[in-house]
Amino acid sequence: MAKYSEIQPQTKQAPPREGFTSTLGVIAATLGSAVGLGNIWKFPYMTGQNGGAAFLFIYIVCVTVVGLTIMISEFIIGRHAGAATVGAYKKLAPGSKWYLAGTSNILAAFLIMAFYTTVAGWVYAYAFQAMTGSLSFSRPEDYKLAFASFTGDPWLPLFWQWIALAVTGAVILAGVKNGIERITKTLLPVLFVLLLLCDVRALTLDGASAGLAFLFKPDFSKITGVTILLALGLSFFKLSVGMGTMTTYGSYIDKNQNLISTAAKVMFSDTLVSILAGIAIFPAVFAFGFQPDAGPSLLFLTIPMVFSSMPLGQLFLAMFFVLTAIAATGAMISLLEVPVSYLCEERKWPRWQATAASVLGIALLGSTATLSTSTLSNFTLFGKTMFDLFDFASSNILLPAGGIAIAIFVSRVLSTKVIFAEATNNGQLKNHRLVTAYYFSVRYLAPIAIAIILLNSLGLVKL
Ligand code: PFF
Repeated sequence: MAKYSEIQPQTKQAPPREGFTSTLGVIAATLGSAVGLGNIWKFPYMTGQNGGAAFLFIYIVCVTVVGLTIMISEFIIGRHAGAATVGAYKKLAPGSKWYLAGTSNILAAFLIMAFYTTVAGWVYAYAFQAMTGSLSFSRPEDYKLAFASFTGDPWLPLFWQWIALAVTGAVILAGVKNGIERITKTLLPVLFVLLLLCDVRALTLDGASAGLAFLFKPDFSKITGVTILLALGLSFFKLSVGMGTMTTYGSYIDKNQNLISTAAKVMFSDTLVSILAGIAIFPAVFAFGFQPDAGPSLLFLTIPMVFSSMPLGQLFLAMFFVLTAIAATGAMISLLEVPVSYLCEERKWPRWQATAASVLGIALLGSTATLSTSTLSNFTLFGKTMFDLFDFASSNILLPAGGIAIAIFVSRVLSTKVIFAEATNNGQLKNHRLVTAYYFSVRYLAPIAIAIILLNSLGLVKL
């Protein structure tokens, strides 16, 4: 199988571009990006707060129709250009302002990293504490106190955030094949096994069925316009689309890979991981009489309380936080690769320098998000703490804006011939019906649906 990088014209000055080496490598890296805190932190708490199964149902529709469309589009842009975001737009629309779509992708990746590494740091700290047995208290209120005193400390969360960043930086430094591909290929199976073990534990608890009913029996009266918006926003965050990650990873995919089926497999497996995380959490939450709608603190308060109450609880608690740390790391790797690939390819920086500068920049910006629960808790901009501001600006504004730009770029700037050539591997794949459905979605459905989220986020349309 010829690698894409091998069939590109190569000059003496430019060393061959690195890329993923196999189908499994492509799936591992892209799935490693999609699976993250979104599945184990955001998805369960949003499902818990928005009606359980009804939210799950709407989420599945959004991720299948809109999320998948944008993922395929990013793959097409990246692979066709053979360049990461910014560079890809410059190559495909030379002399135009389209490269600004890439620049806003890099900004979005930076802002997401700034608050994502805060939560990843908390997860690393909890994984460490659970493994050393120091996350076990006798009274439920002690878990609250422990979380408040940990996040209220200015130094400890910063320390763990920087550890999370250093681990991610080390993987990125090792490169696309030896870093991203190798680490995600090794860690994803571990994550699946740990998650399945937690599922078996949760399902064998007395009273587990109430949690399953919550997750799988939809009550459609709970669905409002806001539910749909939240689900659509989550589907972007979940599939890591709208901020150039999948454009960048797409540029590492060789010409023989089937882009549509890769994206569909990633979307399906990622949704499965979210559902498996729900199965690990809700039956246990209901079995021990806790409420499912605790919000963002579900992972850090309810889960430790619930898991410690069950037989072999400490072991499962440690497994649960280790698997969450693995998930968060795969996602952070893909986010960091966005600015690093830009600095290497467009600014010609050596990889170590690009990695060091990006890690440092994210550490500085991210510290303000981490300190939002301590030193900077009273500091607000636009009425939000730095943590909430980064989350809101990236998830609700930059990602949907990036998603629309991507959909418009593919459907109105790239020629139909290029789209069909990329999506069918120059006619080798017999998937014309699928490609036609994708084309309809990218041209009409997805941009309209995303425009509605964006207008709502900006307060211009009320749902
Ligand atoms: N998809 C990741 C998650 O669900 O946690 C988050 C994420 C990763 C968002 C990479 C954006 C991104 F570029």
